[in-house]
Amino acid sequence: MSTGKTAVVTGAGSGIGRASAKALAAQGYRVLAIDVDSAGADEAVRAVHEAGGQAAAAACDVRDPEAFGAALDDARRRWSAPPALLANVAGIGVAASLTETSPDDWDRVLAVNLTALFHTCRAVLPPMVEAGSGVIVNVASVSGLVGVRDRAAYCASKAGVIGLTRSIAVDYAHLGIRANAICPGTVASEWIGKILADSPDPAATRARMEARQLDGRMGTPEEVASGIAFLAGDGARFVNGSAFVMDGGMTAI
Ligand SMILES: NC(=O)c1ccc[n+]([C@@H]2O[C@H](COP(=O)([O-])OP(=O)(O)OC[C@H]3O[C@@H](n4cnc5c(N)ncnc54)[C@H](O)[C@@H]3O)[C@@H](O)[C@H]2O)c1
Repeated sequence: MSTGKTAVVTGAGSGIGRASAKALAAQGYRVLAIDVDSAGADEAVRAVHEAGGQAAAAACDVRDPEAFGAALDDARRRWSAPPALLANVAGIGVAASLTETSPDDWDRVLAVNLTALFHTCRAVLPPMVEAGSGVIVNVASVSGLVGVRDRAAYCASKAGVIGLTRSIAVDYAHLGIRANAICPGTVASEWIGKILADSPDPAATRARMEARQLDGRMGTPEEVASGIAFLAGDGARFVNGSAFVMDGGMTAI
């Protein structure tokens, strides 16, 4: 059943983003599925439609505020409603310590993982303020809470996401807006699949990644999507400015 509300999901073309598009559509949101990979965004929309939900795709690089704004405008024209929910899921990583990280890689990771969120949140907040309600869920990572080996730019970007999210919560709570970060541990998405495939010993790398979680397995994109759907919903109306950890206990030790 449609809620009549629009959810904007970035990174919807794969992994956690695609699972989130499906979970939010199942909750009755009309989903604007944004991804730089247009085939991935189309695939997410197909999956939502197959399940009886409503969605539209937008091929858009989240680093481009004009393209993001145009996608929002299209969705608003299509569904006659401003975004009620923004889930910033798109992200990239570079495997390198600080001295191994090139300035270009640093800029690229910070641009996609952090600066893009500045722009997307900046685009949705005015209509949310006007509506007197809205929810933002930013996908950070446990890497924003603890140091992870060879992930200098990634850790910095995700710590920045948590800080940005808290500042939004503090500044906009009185206007009816909630903003939370979600911090997944290792999740078996296409991204991790590529890391495993590219590693010299995929079985050993997988075993190492699985062992980081207390129950000895990776999370699934659907599990993180259920966390995003929870933070989006009324059941989480007392959750604001949090760094919501979903990591199978990875950071409990
Ligand atoms: N998989 C994990 O273990 C894990 C753990 C913690 C946090 N995360 C975070 O979860 C999010 C999703 O990761 P995933 O594992 O599903 O990865 P994924 O690679 O499967 O999906 C990421 C999606 O983001 C899109 N994307 C990348 N750059 C973009 C850009 N500039 N503009 C628009 N879209 C872009 C990609 O095309 C892809 O569809 C990321 O922010 C990641 O940092 C993942």
